[in-house]
Amino acid sequence: MELSNIIIRVANATDNHYATTLTDEMASSAKARGTGIAKRSPEYIDQKITEGKSVIAVTTAGEWVGFCYIEVWEHNKFVANSGLIVSPAFRKTGVAKAIKKKIFELSREKYPDSKIFGLTTGLAVMKINSDLGYEPVTYSELTTDEQFWAGCKSCVNYDILMSKERKNCMCTAMLFDPADHYTPEETKTAFKKQSKIYERFMRIKQSKMLKFLQKKQAGGAPSKSLLRFFFNF
Ligand SMILES: CC(C)(COP(=O)(O)OP(=O)(O)OC[C@H]1O[C@@H](n2cnc3c(N)ncnc32)[C@H](O)[C@@H]1OP(=O)(O)O)[C@@H](O)C(=O)NCCC(=O)NCCS
Repeated sequence: MELSNIIIRVANATDNHYATTLTDEMASSAKARGTGIAKRSPEYIDQKITEGKSVIAVTTAGEWVGFCYIEVWEHNKFVANSGLIVSPAFRKTGVAKAIKKKIFELSREKYPDSKIFGLTTGLAVMKINSDLGYEPVTYSELTTDEQFWAGCKSCVNYDILMSKERKNCMCTAMLFDPADHYTPEETKTAFKKQSKIYERFMRIKQSKMLKFLQKKQAGGAPSKSLLRFFFNF
């Protein structure tokens, strides 16, 4: 796939040298957004590239533009498309959309029977996922693989996830089930209709969770209404 002078393709051994730049940008973008992220090492990204489980966007001159990788859980029952990052200079030009489409196609090709999911705090990614046919789900519909959740340990919001017994956190979970899903046209239309509600919902959820964490860190007991908000969410 080509987006003017940008090439979007499955990454290969010639791309391993981008690994450190990619992990540095993932960390600094999360810091700039003030959101958490499951941190990844350059070695982990390197492995994804080598295994053919990632998609990279580069300019025809060889500058990195964007990246995303696949993780497989519970013996192929679940596939996660994670680590989406677009270089700041290339944002808002449709790169993320094209990368997500390519990694979705790669996931479907490699693991046709797997449920594909992602966790995100961003409206842009929710929108892209909806365009592909993903629907928002509760965390109980995601993998129960301990290794997957252990990946969240490096996230600044890990305390929130654990205090909610892994039932909820700052991220919204979205899933594509090959055996039971709406058409992308339907999920796209639904998201379009409700995007204002989603935006508000995420803002409220994130601010309530932060208050909860602040109270917990200060040693105070959370109010009953706050707990109700979390657990009946
Ligand atoms: C989030 C991110 C991947 C988006 O990349 P991008 O290439 O700018 O996104 P696109 O241009 O493909 O935009 C896709 C859609 O999201 C919308 N969008 C992009 N950035 C947005 C933002 N900050 N807020 C709301 N919507 C946004 C676009 O308008 C577009 O919608 P459209 O189809 O109606 O035009 C990029 O900003 C980034 O790398 N951020 C830091 C890392 C990150 O947040 N990764 C996601 C982790 S889950």
